[in-house]
Amino acid sequence: MGKAILEMKGINKSFGNVSVLKDVDFTLQEGEVHALVGGNGAGKSTLMKIMTGVYSLDSGEIYINGERKNIQNTKDAKENGIAMIFQELSLVPTMTIAENIFLGEEITKTGFRDVSAMNKRAKEILNDLGIFINPELKVNQLSVGMSQMIEIAKAISKNARILVLDEPTASLSDSETVQLFRIIRQLKENGVSMVYISHRMNEILSISDAVTILRDGKKIITDNIENLDLDKIISHLVGGEASQKKFEWVEREYDANKDLILKVKNLKISDKIQNISFELQKGEILGIAGLMGSGRTEILETLFGIRKKLGGTIELLGKEININSSQDAIRYGFALIPEDRRRQGLVLGHSVKSNAILPYLRNLLIGKTYLISEKASNELANDDIKRLNIKTDSIHKRINLLSGGNQQKVVIAKWLNMNPKIMMLDEPTAGVDIGAKTEIIEIIRKFADEGKGVIFVSSELTELLSVCDRIITIFDGRITGSILRKNINSEEELQNAIQRSE
Ligand SMILES: Nc1ncnc2c1ncn2[C@@H]1O[C@H](COP(=O)(O)OP(=O)(O)OP(=O)(O)O)[C@@H](O)[C@H]1O
Ligand SMILES: [Mg+2]
Repeated sequence: MGKAILEMKGINKSFGNVSVLKDVDFTLQEGEVHALVGGNGAGKSTLMKIMTGVYSLDSGEIYINGERKNIQNTKDAKENGIAMIFQELSLVPTMTIAENIFLGEEITKTGFRDVSAMNKRAKEILNDLGIFINPELKVNQLSVGMSQMIEIAKAISKNARILVLDEPTASLSDSETVQLFRIIRQLKENGVSMVYISHRMNEILSISDAVTILRDGKKIITDNIENLDLDKIISHLVGGEASQKKFEWVEREYDANKDLILKVKNLKISDKIQNISFELQKGEILGIAGLMGSGRTEILETLFGIRKKLGGTIELLGKEININSSQDAIRYGFALIPEDRRRQGLVLGHSVKSNAILPYLRNLLIGKTYLISEKASNELANDDIKRLNIKTDSIHKRINLLSGGNQQKVVIAKWLNMNPKIMMLDEPTAGVDIGAKTEIIEIIRKFADEGKGVIFVSSELTELLSVCDRIITIFDGRITGSILRKNINSEEELQNAIQRSE
């Protein structure tokens, strides 16, 4: 057994009168990857924000290398070698990679910023981590995955000995995840101790040495990974509550009369993404599988009017339609639950309620006035909270104060309230816990059962296989196949299909 590099003892934290952490103990051993696991709102991010000085604790003690420390702010944490990669990325998009890495600690020469020295040093730091990219590129030109790696490089350049990764893979593709895991193993070899937060059990089982499980702000257990398995972790996670339904695929009846709800023909989105043709039947759940960058998101964005099509036709219920804006798309009955919920899905300064009812406002007016019925809108928001099991103490809470997974549920509630004809979901379960995933999948099925159409994009093949009736595969901007779910026998088969160019 190694020695404890960090100990948190008896940590308590409340926001207002809501107690979020209750007498939590947490010990990180030197050089280990320690998974912190728990449902949405269990208190994982809050515990780590206390460790990194973002939040102050109400009571409790923190020790680093056996020495009592008083971490009041992020500067104190940094001085103690602690860094955190947040659930929400924090790079400045308009600055270069190198400028971001040295932000606030620029290398100077005779009083001026030494840009070439910073570029050179940034390159070395990145190369050490096996990342080969030009440090002069602006961050807004990078994929989410690459931004994530840059954040890590930035933390490491500050000599962090303790690194917290809060759901780092929620928006990464499979291959980016592989790269991240390589970096984590490299850091571990260099003696960095890490806390790893994730809702993906396969990641936890493959990367961590020890696991701590939080439930409703209480520590349930800490144990070495050898003593745990998937079933044990899940049973600690959900506690005495009803046992979790596994996401098992069930064949659905949907094509009785083969009515088409949507027909996309020869859609051209860019020089790379073209000849996109597919059909969606009433009641069908259609999956789109492909690697990151293959064009999945672009197809959804075009149907939702965020991108302009360069050619081809879109037919809704047998009639050709023209979608020039999101307003058009919404009017025709499309809904899009976007991949990047913080940027596109929510108004962060507003309450849970005003976010949930946003697309539905017109239906909440009193008589012929422009006044919103307070009673009707409160009822709707309260229903959403119950239906999707959204964890918040009130519908009036500001949405950015909800935990990550609960924010995602509000996005889904918002679009369901609009009662769309076609629901498009782009990685909807990124960052939501197992319980909520099962709920979201149930919601998708029920929605399709009403004879509506669903288009579902996910990098998690297990998920596609558990919910879709049919899956189309795309490779490098072209559709390469359409397979009925019942003809797919394993995840591997699908994995192979998405990696083939024909
Ligand atoms: N600044 C804040 N003000 C008020 N409440 C907060 C604040 N930050 C967090 N909370 C509440 O504390 C609880 C725990 O949130 P936390 O973000 O720690 O959960 P989490 O375990 O990280 O969940 P997730 O898996 O969804 O990210 C939630 O109910 C959340 O709404
Ligand atoms: Mg969190």
